[in-house]
Amino acid sequence: MSRFFVLAIALSSLSSLLASPLATKRQSITTLSTTQISAFKPFTFFASAAYCDPSTTINWSCGRYVGFDPSLNTVIAAHQGTNTSSIVAELTDLDIFMKNLDSTLFPGIDPSVGVHSGFADSQARSAPDILSAVQQTLSAHPGASVTMTGHSLGAALALLDAVYLPLHLPTGTSFKTVTYGMPRVGNLAFANYVDAQITSLSGGTGLTHINNKEDPVPILPGMFLGFHHPSGEVHIQDSDAWDACPGQDNSSDLCIVGDVPNVFESDEADHDGPYDGVEMGC
Ligand SMILES: *[C@@H]1O[C@H](CO)[C@@H](O)[C@H](O)[C@H]1NC(C)=O
Ligand SMILES: *[C@@H]1O[C@H](CO)[C@@H](O)[C@H](O)[C@H]1NC(C)=O
Ligand SMILES: *[C@@H]1O[C@H](CO)[C@@H](O)[C@H](O)[C@H]1NC(C)=O
Repeated sequence: MSRFFVLAIALSSLSSLLASPLATKRQSITTLSTTQISAFKPFTFFASAAYCDPSTTINWSCGRYVGFDPSLNTVIAAHQGTNTSSIVAELTDLDIFMKNLDSTLFPGIDPSVGVHSGFADSQARSAPDILSAVQQTLSAHPGASVTMTGHSLGAALALLDAVYLPLHLPTGTSFKTVTYGMPRVGNLAFANYVDAQITSLSGGTGLTHINNKEDPVPILPGMFLGFHHPSGEVHIQDSDAWDACPGQDNSSDLCIVGDVPNVFESDEADHDGPYDGVEMGC
């Protein structure tokens, strides 16, 4: 009898939850508040700093660094991007192909997961150095979280680090990934893996990929080549409003896939920003 009572309560609260505006609102496009936008600012500076060889960052070399932010109590692993014309040229090259992730670097990843071969090779070269720098920084700051960031090509490498690092760091470490002007990195199996393992962290805020206005890079490589974005898009409108777009490659006009149907309707000048006033690069 008491068991039935508990079940009845559970069911009635479930149905009221399903009927509540909150449940339906979760799937709609929402505009970020100024407070929410400002919360991204430190990561925007960290992504931009990857272009600068800054003295404040630890062990910057070859376009990447690992650093520590005491106020956020987080280890930062950041990658530099390339210039806009070279990334657009590379990503519109029809010679693009996908490969599996290296099984030593990415133990246990399903073989259906495919990623851009150039991104995979580039991430594989820096991966051991990044891992050891992150491990050393974490041992100097026990309990700190780990944040991956980058812009452009650097965003793609940061997303691969976001898949790679948790496979080698102690369970219980918390991770966050924030990227800017990120191209598509892999296939649908990759996007689904990222959604399940990364985007879903911290109540669905584990990954945010921010793209600016009519930037061509986030719509490349094309979906017709089998590439898909994971969830977690935030799109900056021409009005400078920041909108969170639910799902993968949302085709709404408020999101990049709907706003920029092809590269001919894009504007390369939007790739470097500004992202809330911050231009990428040094
Ligand atoms: C972009 O990078 C490529 C390759 O590194 C270089 O050849 C080109 O001059 C650069 N373009 C600009 C505008 O900096
Ligand atoms: C940075 O590099 C120095 C010298 O190579 C090394 O001793 C130090 O442990 C490195 N720090 C991190 C956090 O990787
Ligand atoms: C795109 O956003 C709309 C809300 O405007 C939502 O209903 C739809 O499910 C989203 N599309 C995808 C593919 O998730």
